[in-house]
Amino acid sequence: MFYRPEDGHGLPHNPFSAIVAPRPIAWISTRGTDGSENLAPYSFFNAVAYTPPQVMFATTGKKHDREGTKDTLANIRDTGVFAVNIVEFAKREVMNLTSGPWDKDVDEAEMAGIARGECDTINCGRIADAPATLECKLTQIVDLQGPNNRVAFGEVTGIHLRDDCIVDGRFDVTRFQPLARLGYRDFTHVSEVFVMQRPGET
Ligand SMILES: Cc1cc2nc3c(=O)[nH]c(=O)nc-3n(C[C@H](O)[C@H](O)[C@H](O)COP(=O)(O)O)c2cc1C
Repeated sequence: MFYRPEDGHGLPHNPFSAIVAPRPIAWISTRGTDGSENLAPYSFFNAVAYTPPQVMFATTGKKHDREGTKDTLANIRDTGVFAVNIVEFAKREVMNLTSGPWDKDVDEAEMAGIARGECDTINCGRIADAPATLECKLTQIVDLQGPNNRVAFGEVTGIHLRDDCIVDGRFDVTRFQPLARLGYRDFTHVSEVFVMQRPGET
């Protein structure tokens, strides 16, 4: 089949998010200027540069108690910082719980029973036992086509790695099995790894 998005797909569910899949999940912690804590998952997320390391995530839609966006971006706009926590398979249910449309004064980590740590290079909370956390300083917010669609870019200024995930000098994903989002309500996790040499590599 072929369809132009503006004409509709004619299927019972939108296939778009099942096409660009699997997507890694940024479990983003932020802090409001009033000291409130926030945590929510974002799968329009990726790493985009090595030197200096940089990441991006996209926010779509808005909350009833926020001006044209969600709590995460609202806090980042105010403070200029955020932390990306990596989600392990074992935390899939609590991650999902933090995605609810909770009021802005709800501390999702506390609600879900997630222990909080403090970031080292930014004034922001983080998930204490996440396999990895990227402490980020906002570099830019880009408005996208359509209402309330925006991308935020951040420079990574500090990286936490959980000690048990470092095996033989490598950050070993098989130790925690990163969760990833597919389309619809489907998820997957990395349980199998294989190696390929690039052409010209010895
Ligand atoms: C696995 C998963 C991935 C999500 N990815 C995104 C995303 O990339 N962008 C987005 O705007 N919302 C995404 N959501 C929905 C947000 O998590 C949800 O709107 C949440 O309430 C936002 O919280 P906040 O207002 O505290 O930022 C995702 C939800 C789940 C469960």
